[in-house]
Amino acid sequence: MTAEIIGTGSALPMLAVNNRELEGIVDTTDEWIKSRTGIENRHIAVEETTTSLAVKAAEAAIRNAGVSAQELDLIIVGTVSGDLCFPSTACQIQKALSAPNAVAFDMNAACAGFLFGLAVAEAYFKASMAKTALIVGAEVLSKMMDWKDRSTCVLFGDGAGAAVVRASDAGVLSMVQGSDGERGGALTCGNRPVNNPFVSNPFRLEYAKMEGQAVYRFAVRTVPEAVRQAIRQAGIEMSEIKYFLLHQANIRIIEAVAKKLEQPMEKFPTNLQKYGNISAASVPILLDDINQSGRLQKGDKILLAGFGAGFTWGAAVLEWQR
Ligand code: ACO
Repeated sequence: MTAEIIGTGSALPMLAVNNRELEGIVDTTDEWIKSRTGIENRHIAVEETTTSLAVKAAEAAIRNAGVSAQELDLIIVGTVSGDLCFPSTACQIQKALSAPNAVAFDMNAACAGFLFGLAVAEAYFKASMAKTALIVGAEVLSKMMDWKDRSTCVLFGDGAGAAVVRASDAGVLSMVQGSDGERGGALTCGNRPVNNPFVSNPFRLEYAKMEGQAVYRFAVRTVPEAVRQAIRQAGIEMSEIKYFLLHQANIRIIEAVAKKLEQPMEKFPTNLQKYGNISAASVPILLDDINQSGRLQKGDKILLAGFGAGFTWGAAVLEWQR
């Protein structure tokens, strides 16, 4: 028993903001952002929320899969930017979709959120605890940025991606996951501090902070290892992979991974130029782009990989069945 992706969907905020527009907000340049990251544009939420984007992506994935919301028995949302502490984004999606038969919960694995969701869904299928799952990666990261900190605010965007996944005999061929909390201090965002009548701790909003080079080194070292491991576990050759769909953090990370794996960049589709880094939403949005543009045929083998804060990482080899 494994998991098969039977439909994908995505949603982006209306407002697109290019690098030149950021030049008027922080001390940066289009040239700096493009040359260091590859990013040219990102979508930023104004009217939208994490939940509204997640619902839109989920509805598109359900339509694409040709299933009804009533068939869903599991909803997992990967997010670090839910609108509410509780209820979860997943429970809010359940309500919006009218999916009463689903168990719904959120997971925080940052940019590896979609891969972690896929791993949990597969485990539920193997344990006969579910048959049809909706996995969503949804983020409004713009609300977690210090818009005076040029080293972070130019990197991220907002959006959501989703996939409907079914228990099946074919689909996911292998799954690799890892975490390294020891080095997690390189990429953090504070939550509410302890605050109650017994401590004096005035509430102060905290924003995302990053040691960029530490994150870069982590990604370039860990992702090729995870990819090799996933391919080995799938029992296939690297050359059989049609597309490597990596988390869209930075073009230089993707180029370095491609080089280490000795694979051509044509096998690494990217959309970070248009959307920036959307954490948990990045992999499912890219998968939806590839799926909707008709670039996947039955029998194609693809690799998905997510990596980010925690540190966390996940990779999966899939054989496309549609
Ligand atoms: N515009 C102009 N100058 C900037 C900007 C900016 N937006 N941001 C930083 N700088 C300046 C710095 O202040 C510094 O100036 P100084 O030399 O006068 O001190 C200079 O540029 C170099 O800064 P570095 O941080 O050393 O730049 P670096 O070459 O490391 O690039 C970057 C930064 C792009 C973040 C890089 O470290 C990187 O790619 N890291 C990977 C992290 C990543 O992609 N994170 C995404 C989130 S995590 C994830 O999704 C996995």
